[in-house]
Amino acid sequence: MLTDNFGRRFYYLRLSITDVCNFRCNYCLPDGYECNGERDFLKLTEISRVAKAFSQLGTEKIRITGGEPSLRKDLPEIISTCKQTQGIKKVALTTNGFKLPTHLPSWLDAGIDAINVSIDSLDPRQFHTITGHNKLNTILKGIDMALSANNAPTVKVNTVLMREYNAYDIQSYLDWLKDTPVTLRFIELMQTGDNKEFFDAQHVQGARIKQNLILAGWLPVISDKSSGPAQEFYHPDYQGKIGLIMPYSKDFCNTCNRLRVSSQGKLHLCLFGESGLSLREQLQCDDLEPLKAQIVSLLGDKKATHFLHEKITGATKHLAMLGG
Ligand code: 5AD
Ligand code: SF4
Repeated sequence: MLTDNFGRRFYYLRLSITDVCNFRCNYCLPDGYECNGERDFLKLTEISRVAKAFSQLGTEKIRITGGEPSLRKDLPEIISTCKQTQGIKKVALTTNGFKLPTHLPSWLDAGIDAINVSIDSLDPRQFHTITGHNKLNTILKGIDMALSANNAPTVKVNTVLMREYNAYDIQSYLDWLKDTPVTLRFIELMQTGDNKEFFDAQHVQGARIKQNLILAGWLPVISDKSSGPAQEFYHPDYQGKIGLIMPYSKDFCNTCNRLRVSSQGKLHLCLFGESGLSLREQLQCDDLEPLKAQIVSLLGDKKATHFLHEKITGATKHLAMLGG
């Protein structure tokens, strides 16, 4: 089992398969994706080796991220490769959902267990302003399709809290959650290398929302070992749940249970660490032992926490690099 020097165990791998994205989220890629550098993304065989090596080291869940993973034509094959890896119990996907209704059937066929979609506003115009795309209604339709599918995946929705774009309108999300059985996660905006001014203007804390939820009768959900860093709440009158992800809160990193591999095959020990540590060489042959040894040895460098409080964002210019 992968365990670091602080006794944290890593059940969960976030695997980025591309850093290309077609959205221009104001906090992430406000000027759109800029292609600079290599675009030699992990191939299916390499992805298969990553999945096998991590599962042999105790990983049970793989989340496929980007950039926008559905910009890769072989996404269904990638999902099924991960899903068929012995020991992997759950395969999840983070997507901006720009073609969710069209893509969903092939993802379901491939065996997807969970889908996370970002919806930073439930107002179509505001959504367009934030992302550069007028896709809210398409995404909402895709979510309804996912929820009513035969082998329905778990659906989570991510909302990055921003002072001037959505934080004043939590009520529209509550109204939606009354009858929509998704888990909505409010994520505190995180500072990255590229968004400092935006961060200073827009960051709001999730703590006040948490207090208001508790006052309104929302109750904490008991979390299990593979659940992420979200503090989740449910309410008997609501079909949906609410999670809060507060990376600036005290002890946030204590429960870290995830490692990340970038689309270039680099191991990232922290979302806000220094540049990743290459596994690419070890990914070139079928013998997984050198790969596993490399992962275990690199894990020895994992630090206790991020350094965001000191405004040190590591090498992460924006989260499209690593998929959050
Ligand atoms: N702060 C918080 N969340 C972010 N995401 C992307 N960039 C940031 C940021 N700077 C979110 C996306 C998506 C998830 C993968 O990460 O909105 O929901
Ligand atoms: Fe938006 Fe995600 Fe694309 Fe960044 S990677 S621009 S957060 S959809």
